[in-house]
Amino acid sequence: MTTRRNFLGYAATAVGAMPFAGAALAQTSSSTSSSGSASNAAPKAAASAASGYGASTANKELDIVSLPRLKDDFKAAIPKAGYVFVTGAKGDEWTLRENRRAMEDFRIMTHRLTGVSADNIDLSVEILGQKLPFPFFVAPMGAHRMVHEEGEVATARGAGMAGALYCSSGASNKTLEQIAEATTGPKWFQLYFNQDVNVTKSLLRRAKDAGYSAIVLTADALGPGTPDEFRAMGMPFRSDMTFGNHDPAFGGTGNFLDQKADLTPDDIKMIKDETGLPVIVKGILRGEDVDPIIAAGADAIQVSNHGGRQIDGVPGAISALPLVAKAVDGRVPVIMDSGIRRGIDVIRALAMGATCVAVGRPVLYGLGVGGAKGVQSVLESLANELRSDLLLTGARSMADLDPSYISMTGASAEMQKG
Ligand SMILES: Cc1cc2nc3c(=O)[nH]c(=O)nc-3n(C[C@H](O)[C@H](O)[C@H](O)COP(=O)(O)O)c2cc1C
Repeated sequence: MTTRRNFLGYAATAVGAMPFAGAALAQTSSSTSSSGSASNAAPKAAASAASGYGASTANKELDIVSLPRLKDDFKAAIPKAGYVFVTGAKGDEWTLRENRRAMEDFRIMTHRLTGVSADNIDLSVEILGQKLPFPFFVAPMGAHRMVHEEGEVATARGAGMAGALYCSSGASNKTLEQIAEATTGPKWFQLYFNQDVNVTKSLLRRAKDAGYSAIVLTADALGPGTPDEFRAMGMPFRSDMTFGNHDPAFGGTGNFLDQKADLTPDDIKMIKDETGLPVIVKGILRGEDVDPIIAAGADAIQVSNHGGRQIDGVPGAISALPLVAKAVDGRVPVIMDSGIRRGIDVIRALAMGATCVAVGRPVLYGLGVGGAKGVQSVLESLANELRSDLLLTGARSMADLDPSYISMTGASAEMQKG
């Protein structure tokens, strides 16, 4: 029998979203910004929000120094519940920290006198038949109404304004149709496989009808993943949120929480049969898992530890990337997320075998501080930083990057020895 405690724990799993009647609302917000960049401070929507939760209602361009620095402005812009929910991770949050520390194991080996100049830099990549203006996209993340009143509709609009691919989470508060309509850019749909196969099939049909061009199957969200601090606060999800895709008020069916945990490669086949769309399997951290996934028809593999939100103690995603890329051996594209904050992080990942990467939490910082325009600012700021970093690396295009641009050290190098 599902106890209330288990239920809440499970609900907040991957997801990160949890609409249940009677949830304690966070009425307070953290009040200080240590970044000192007052120009980015967004007004809280305290009085205007119907729920009284006080999510951001901002919509403004941001003057971004760097994505890590934006975290302080994010803290000041949204209720504490939303800040803890987004920035927290599982257990002792070692993996969360390791995602960043492990980046330092990948030292950039610059090439000189390569004739590269700011005018002939090319950041574009192609993946699954889709041309992207820069080699990153918006990672699937649930429950954007914990951050902004408009939820995923604002995030998707901002991604479209930057020309970025938006991956819509199966745990969104808005419906996949509302989100598809909001973005002018390319879009993928991330599926949480439901125990009721008819619910899963209906989600897949709707995603295809709404114009999503690929399905991301998240494989690592198998149980509770709630940050300790969020639990200590009493799981303060806002009471007026729902999982949009399952909300009967919007024609949805099924219970989002009835997720299928015992996934197998056959589930990949089912998605492909049902939609005819490419399937990306997200949450892979070891080479041995790759063969059955590709044999079942997966079209791409996404190396990810879910930003440390699922299981603490797994290695940094960048450390796992070379192992997975080696096992994939060019058969399908490899994508990576978890810990991307800087232009040089993108260079590290692409040099080690990724075709592109996904950006998670910093997009939500932009959403909280600046709404749709803030999301656009985040993506454009990362593209600008990448352009400058690529120039300094000595590479002209993303295709130029290979392992010769990296010296791998420390724990990441140790891992490759097996
Ligand atoms: C608030 C939040 C909600 C998330 N929800 C989902 C989700 O619904 N589905 C999913 O596959 N991943 C989800 N993720 C994980 C992201 O897709 C991505 O793997 C992670 O954010 C990468 O870590 P980083 O943001 O620290 O770079 C979520 C992450 C955050 C921060």
